[in-house]
Amino acid sequence: MRASTRSHFRPPALVVLATAVTALGLAPGRGATADPNAPRLQKQGTATQLVVDGQPFLIRGAELNNSSASSLDYLKPLWPRLVATRLNTVLATVSWELVEPQEGRFDFKLVDGLVNEARASNLRLVLLWFGSWKNGKSTYQPLWVKADQARFPLVQNEQGRSLNTLTPFSEANCESDARAFAALMRHLRDVDGRQHTVLMIQVENEMGVLEDSRDYGPAANQAFAGPVPQELMAYLAAHRDALVPELRELWDANGSRPSGTWAEVFGPGKPAGKEIPVRTLSPPMTEQEHETAWRRLYWPVDEIFMAWRYARYVNRVAEAGKAEYPLPMYVNAWLQQRDHAWPGTYPSGGPLPQVMNVWQAEAPAIDILAGDIYVQEFEDVCGRYHRCGNPVFIPESRGDGRGAAQAIWAFGRHDAIAYSPFGIDRLAGADTELAKAYGVIAQVSPLILEHQGNGTMTALLVDRDGAPQAVRLGNYQIEARYSVRSFGPAGATAPPERVAGLFISLGPDDYMVVGRAMNVYFSSAVAPSDSVGLGTVEEGVYADGRWVPGRRLNGDETPEWRALRFPAENYGIQRVKLYCYR
Ligand code: DGJ
Repeated sequence: MRASTRSHFRPPALVVLATAVTALGLAPGRGATADPNAPRLQKQGTATQLVVDGQPFLIRGAELNNSSASSLDYLKPLWPRLVATRLNTVLATVSWELVEPQEGRFDFKLVDGLVNEARASNLRLVLLWFGSWKNGKSTYQPLWVKADQARFPLVQNEQGRSLNTLTPFSEANCESDARAFAALMRHLRDVDGRQHTVLMIQVENEMGVLEDSRDYGPAANQAFAGPVPQELMAYLAAHRDALVPELRELWDANGSRPSGTWAEVFGPGKPAGKEIPVRTLSPPMTEQEHETAWRRLYWPVDEIFMAWRYARYVNRVAEAGKAEYPLPMYVNAWLQQRDHAWPGTYPSGGPLPQVMNVWQAEAPAIDILAGDIYVQEFEDVCGRYHRCGNPVFIPESRGDGRGAAQAIWAFGRHDAIAYSPFGIDRLAGADTELAKAYGVIAQVSPLILEHQGNGTMTALLVDRDGAPQAVRLGNYQIEARYSVRSFGPAGATAPPERVAGLFISLGPDDYMVVGRAMNVYFSSAVAPSDSVGLGTVEEGVYADGRWVPGRRLNGDETPEWRALRFPAENYGIQRVKLYCYR
């Protein structure tokens, strides 16, 4: 099955499903019957939204530690803390080894417990299928898989040594994973097909080859020596002008060949005998290279080749699951970054931005490619994922004050569907920075959802030690300057080093602004010689989606009589009407 050759936007899940069923020759599962209220993705303007029970839904999420969902008792005291953090969705692991401890015998007690407990706390779930891979390794498959490497072969490095990770070149690996995943989805349809507590599924976790740049096992070597599959070449040719520049430039640099072996089309792989270090911190990379290495591609062909194969495998798993219950599905990536610049020091072949077109070509059953964004370059990475029709979904990131600001920014600037810091077991609590940010997002969610994709909303991130930031929205240029001056309660805690401003244009001169520890200035973007005055400024809250004004702000609360001042201690909401004068 191929995605449309005219655009990168995927066909709706049900269309994919219908085609997938045909392509695999599978009988449609009972889940193939359309439920109009089941969670699904839907376009609004340029944005893609998650729609749940007919309404767009913004995921204020957080991910549990990897082992937490293996014990309902462990989770018991956590649920109230999750609610206090103002989450609406929890990302929780479902591990293959616990679901299918013996081949063909499934146990969904834990899954049922999770669903029931989430419902009791009025929370939704995104389930993470830890099947064949977790962080470039294979540790969540059942022992009957682990122990039988003849039947379930592993990746081999260049020296022919097995690495502790299932090879994506094995039919048996793929079939067994897909069968277990299909059983999970069938079960979810049976227990949750009406209530929709489970919103989405992450298929696998941070797949890719670590410790070498690609799989060097016999099947992999044979494929690598052969031609790039014609379907992939046809997809790249059909999307030539829309490919991400990382891939397009590489293809062009190697002669833009319409066919050939992998190395002919994408250039040479890792030099023979080159050792892959754990990190690229130590030689052979120079100090200067470290500064920029994470932006360069090393042996891209190895990564592209593995991306092709992982995407094919994961697509089969996702298709099998969607045939039972077609929830939206995504995959996540461990990113290339400073000190992890070579494929193999980060998992080679995962859904990274530089190979996103390969994933889109080979895995049309996957709706979203997502990055786990722990790196400093948060804005850059969001921008790189928000290309080629791919929506922004952040399954793992930070949950401190900086992370909280990034959540607001991602929703406002990139129409994100979800933000979810990792390790909520430790982070949860009513007094946390995350709870503050999620509290204000909860208030303005209806407005955010209304404005996503319409060009009437944007956001800025402002750093304590950084320059003021500016953006145009409608007829105005908006500038935000970090400021800790506040007329709030004495002794309040210092604001985070990074804060966010969210701006929604309600009318030509009418703006709703969420901000913290900042002053916000407006100037005319259409008549630069005009001055801009504050007509009226209200602070307030949104209750049930309705604006409830509090104080009318003026004087000292509007610095220089022309700026909005936001408190240092928490995010606040202000509505301003502007006017121009000469
Ligand atoms: C990324 C992985 O995807 C998570 O499962 C978890 O292991 C975190 N790293 C730990 O930081």
